[in-house]
Amino acid sequence: MRVGIIGGGLMGREAASAFGRWFVLENFPVRAELVAVCDLQDKLLDWFRQIPTVKLLTKDHRELLASAEVDVVYVAVPHNLHERMYLDVLAAGKDLLAEKPFGIDLAAARRIRDAAAASGRFVRCSSEFPFLPGVQRAVQAFQAGGFGKLLEIHSCFWHASDLDPTKAVNWKRQVKTCGEIGVMGDLGMHVVHVPFRLGLKPTRVYAQLQKIYTQRPDGKGGMAECDTWDNAMLHCDVAVDGREVPMRLEMKRLAPGATNTWWVEFLGTDGGVRYSTAEPKTLWIFERQKEQRWVRVDLGFQTPFPTITGGIFEPGFPDCFLQMWAAYAAERAGALGGKFGCVTPDEAVASHEVFAAALESHRTKAAVTL
Ligand SMILES: NC(=O)c1ccc[n+]([C@@H]2O[C@H](COP(=O)([O-])OP(=O)(O)OC[C@H]3O[C@@H](n4cnc5c(N)ncnc54)[C@H](O)[C@@H]3O)[C@@H](O)[C@H]2O)c1
Repeated sequence: MRVGIIGGGLMGREAASAFGRWFVLENFPVRAELVAVCDLQDKLLDWFRQIPTVKLLTKDHRELLASAEVDVVYVAVPHNLHERMYLDVLAAGKDLLAEKPFGIDLAAARRIRDAAAASGRFVRCSSEFPFLPGVQRAVQAFQAGGFGKLLEIHSCFWHASDLDPTKAVNWKRQVKTCGEIGVMGDLGMHVVHVPFRLGLKPTRVYAQLQKIYTQRPDGKGGMAECDTWDNAMLHCDVAVDGREVPMRLEMKRLAPGATNTWWVEFLGTDGGVRYSTAEPKTLWIFERQKEQRWVRVDLGFQTPFPTITGGIFEPGFPDCFLQMWAAYAAERAGALGGKFGCVTPDEAVASHEVFAAALESHRTKAAVTL
């Protein structure tokens, strides 16, 4: 799988790191190599020069797409560029791992999904946290049942660095580049991936959206407008066994004390499970027997795709990002073997449907039926 990256910023370089240690995957059916990179910034292109497999460095994404050496393209650029870039990738006959939110809004996501289907190319969207061992265990516990009557679901992603009002503006803080959905576009795919894959899709949503800091330093001595939503709490109904179950989706840039905390919880009358990246080795299991108890499981490195890393070691962000890429490569090769897969174009569109409903709910101060 020869990969080209468009957008060599935060995530483009994270992807390069995954390909740089692809060899840690054991008995994996696909070899992967980063061969081409496109970015507009010289200093980023220079960074990629240290990777010996990279043969093409360019500022024009069309040059990368014209290369016969590239099979798969990873696009990690601001949201206003998603649609144009993704359609260009498909038109060039390449497979795509798209970054979230898969287009700046619902209409763009639908056009990308339709173009992907028409092209016949293999297209998935990025969301890496489900590939952590703790999340896999939570998913397996939910699938195994035994929770009794499901009471509630939480799926949340919290950031805290925006609590600092002196943090400079960037493209993620402005509607024109991030999208009207704001923080939902940034963090939302991460919170819907697991519930959607478990068949938990909202039928109704009531949203509370907050804008706290409307201006930030522009990095040039002045101030710049910040017009995106900072925090979003989506109170949803999902249908489980013919009943409505509450599911709360939380996406926050201002969550006190949370650097990059992704967490999920399923609670039922007889059992439950909770996992948070704040405690990456810990899985909490609720059991109701004669007594009720929360059991703490000390996890190891049982990733979906085995690696040479020792089974007692701790996983982190680069590990789940590599595992996500392994899932993409395996599924593309028809070798996923029933394992958890990356977000599909239909799931990405469904996420935008929830976020569009959330915007409407907040505007009308009413629950919106999907
Ligand atoms: N999966 C995750 O955990 C995760 C985390 C952060 C961001 N993201 C997503 O990744 C994408 C990129 O975010 P980021 O944080 O890496 O942003 P970033 O600003 O760090 O990087 C974006 C890069 O795109 C480049 N770029 C802009 N226009 C370009 C063009 N026309 N051609 C080529 N390159 C161009 C910029 O120079 C920049 O280096 C977004 O969709 C974002 O939502 C995903």
